[in-house]
Amino acid sequence: MPSLTNLKPLLTQWETDSTLLEPANVSRRMEILDQLDRYSSQSELLEDNPCKELLVRSQALSSKLESINSLLFQFIREQIQCGVCPSEFQTILEQQASTHPHGFSYDYLDDLLAGVFQFDPPHSEPQDLGPDSVFYQPTPARHIFQMISAAAITETDTLIDLGSGLGHVPLLASICTGATSIGIELDSAWVASAEMCASKLNLRKVSFNAQDVREADLSSGTVFYLYTPFTGATLSSVLDSLRAHAAMHPIRICAFGPVTLSLSMETWMRPVTPPATDRITVFLPNSN
Ligand SMILES: C[S@@+](CC[C@H](N)C(=O)[O-])C[C@H]1O[C@@H](n2cnc3c(N)ncnc32)[C@H](O)[C@@H]1O
Repeated sequence: MPSLTNLKPLLTQWETDSTLLEPANVSRRMEILDQLDRYSSQSELLEDNPCKELLVRSQALSSKLESINSLLFQFIREQIQCGVCPSEFQTILEQQASTHPHGFSYDYLDDLLAGVFQFDPPHSEPQDLGPDSVFYQPTPARHIFQMISAAAITETDTLIDLGSGLGHVPLLASICTGATSIGIELDSAWVASAEMCASKLNLRKVSFNAQDVREADLSSGTVFYLYTPFTGATLSSVLDSLRAHAAMHPIRICAFGPVTLSLSMETWMRPVTPPATDRITVFLPNSN
């Protein structure tokens, strides 16, 4: 729990820091909003004591920072709706390409995407998908940006996310590169939210199919993405399909999470960089 005695000088510093008002300073704003949130969780303690003034000031600062973020999110949404890759996303792409991020944690970039995508909550509880399927968890945003660079995705590509959840990967890949993107997802509730997001952002090259990946048509894909979506017989069957597809077409396969180890055992493809579960690994078929 942060100490309340620290809050007063911090508030004074933050209230007078004009750099926080610059739209691009979103990471610092998110960091401060997090800290303010942790302090305000002590609000019950503050209700009847002299520190109440601090609570009022921290709430006012939170509202101010949130409204700057909302304006930024709206500005980015409008650019996407006009078919433009926002300069904010281009800058992040360049940064992530050179830093090779790792780890499974989330950061301010995930808050940024949440603010831009504004997903409707799924209309039902997550389905029980069966023994081979892995539950939904989004790829941390920094890895999606890195994957777009590492796989050198362009507008002539068709990216297929095998088990796409809410659709962060197809949405972002299409926004940043103009590629066609397809998300295949077994749970129709995630698909409905993803389709609504794509429609509100006017993304005509992004589509989602509510189906089992084993029944999906993968023939148009040039780049495939797997964030550990399934294991066992389902993974074997999908890898067989990808292998047959790779024999006829040049493709790239990108992986994140434990599935990377399974892919690295496949002798028909090779990793471009040493395989690691906590960062993006791109695999190229030997036939490429
Ligand atoms: C770990 S999540 C990854 C989500 C998304 N690719 C991302 O990176 O943000 C795995 C997803 O695969 C989906 N899934 C599991 N088995 C599937 C199957 N047989 N066919 C299609 N989707 C499946 C799950 O519902 C879940 O949304």
